Amino acid sequence: MIIFAIETSCDETAAAIVDVPTRQILAQTLTSEILSNAPYGGVVPELTARAHQQHLPAIVNQTLAKSGLGWPQINAIAATTGPGLTTALVIGSTFAKTLAVATGKPFLATNHIEGHALTPHLTNPALTFPYLLLLVSGGHCQLVNVNNVGDYQLLGTTVDDAVGECFDKVGKLLGLPHPAGPAIENLAKTGNPHAIKLPHPLKDQSLNFSFSGLKTAVREHLLKHPDTNHADLAASFQHTAAEILTYKTKRAIQQTQATQVVAAGGVAANLTIRAKLQQICAEHHATFSAPPLKLCGDNAVMIAYAAGLRHLANLPNTGLPTAVRPRWPLSESHI
Ligand code: KG4
Ligand code: ZN
Repeated sequence: MIIFAIETSCDETAAAIVDVPTRQILAQTLTSEILSNAPYGGVVPELTARAHQQHLPAIVNQTLAKSGLGWPQINAIAATTGPGLTTALVIGSTFAKTLAVATGKPFLATNHIEGHALTPHLTNPALTFPYLLLLVSGGHCQLVNVNNVGDYQLLGTTVDDAVGECFDKVGKLLGLPHPAGPAIENLAKTGNPHAIKLPHPLKDQSLNFSFSGLKTAVREHLLKHPDTNHADLAASFQHTAAEILTYKTKRAIQQTQATQVVAAGGVAANLTIRAKLQQICAEHHATFSAPPLKLCGDNAVMIAYAAGLRHLANLPNTGLPTAVRPRWPLSESHI
């Protein structure tokens, strides 16, 4: 079961080929549109869609060439059909559908969040179902029970901003380039994480998260103390964000008796957050794992793997008639 996948849900144009049963990544190519959108301080959907259209033909050819395979050896063509930016999803999935028609392969419509959710299963062969997932990205902040392929139980989610969005907004306040997660992590290395006391919203029994108050507190601190040390503020913010994520993950372990915990999504690349999660899991006798850093952020490997696992499990897929779904919850990944 060798899957060719395309991912264009946001600002990465990516393609990959994965041999799903053996978990082998045969080729992958990724181009980020971050530079083309940089002067605007964020992603501009129209510019991003045009860039996907421009880059995809070369990325598809390069990926196939790197693998040393030809189309006859590929079993199916997958693409992200949601959630994400509508025009960006349309470009990638239409390209993949056209490839599927031209080569006579099945088209596998794939949920982007399901890709993130199953990446730890690809990269950690010791991991078995069920596992507790902390999904932390630019668009999502969720705790999910991954019971099996296609069987996801949402335990908690953010009531306002996603944690990655919060890193990006705080980065903007600090004058850092978008997306600001890696820049904040870097700046925080020279700062004191206990220098500035910031709020921990929604510290309650629920498994939901809230981040907008934290972002506002950073803005207010900057207004009141314009000369504040930015490294201290970055470190204090990162420390608080890690505390918020760790606190709810601990509650989820206690409630579900999970013995395996994974983190996935762009923010899971943050080493401070990983270390705190690792510590809390060890204290609660659960294993902790997260994908290698370059598979935390958006990529097509995760789309190929999720599409392939669903196909192998005979889970329903509408194929070529599938429309893109800019909003597509993981719990409805079978639709
Ligand atoms: O999963 P992802 O690539 O795209 C979405 O599906 O959203 O996540 C992107 C998010 C951005 O908000 C980015 O700032 C954040 O992940 N991010 C980080 C780090 N690397 C990326 N946040 C904190 N620390 C990092 N090292
Ligand atoms: Zn993502």
